[in-house]
Amino acid sequence: MRGRSIEVEGEAPFDIRKFGDPVLRTRAGEVDDIDGTLVRVVDDMLETMYAEPGLGLAAPQVGISKRLFVYDIGEGPHAIVNPEIVESDGEWAFEEGCLSVPGLSWEIIRPKEIHLIGYDLDGNEVSIEADELLSRCFQHELDHLDGKLLIDHLEGEIRKEAMRTVREIFLGGL
Ligand code: NI
Repeated sequence: MRGRSIEVEGEAPFDIRKFGDPVLRTRAGEVDDIDGTLVRVVDDMLETMYAEPGLGLAAPQVGISKRLFVYDIGEGPHAIVNPEIVESDGEWAFEEGCLSVPGLSWEIIRPKEIHLIGYDLDGNEVSIEADELLSRCFQHELDHLDGKLLIDHLEGEIRKEAMRTVREIFLGGL
């Protein structure tokens, strides 16, 4: 007997949407209510993120077009609802990858520090001054809420080459 249909134990609750899925190119809508349903979605998103593993995961990446992301850069799990970047400063180059474009990474320059505001799962306002990795994670996840992907930050020949590569891998060369 072959074991092909046996389910893997501890499988992630969500499938991660990959490059080519239109939900990744759609601007996500505001979250209106922070309720029990949203809290359960966040739990499942965190479980999915840890299973990969990833540092951050935005709701559109699991097919939910809402302005919400989860993250853990090594200091514990967090969720931010309706995030906004209100200030940014400096420049920082960092080799960046994305769970929706798995197996690939590019050096991307973005602001080094940002000020992010939003809400936590209790509905309280949060205001975070983030630098380097945390700042990078916030900017990357917020991009997902606006239908942007990391390759959109590349320019010229590097962008062309990156687009060729991702089309080949995720769209079968189209
Ligand atoms: Ni990503």
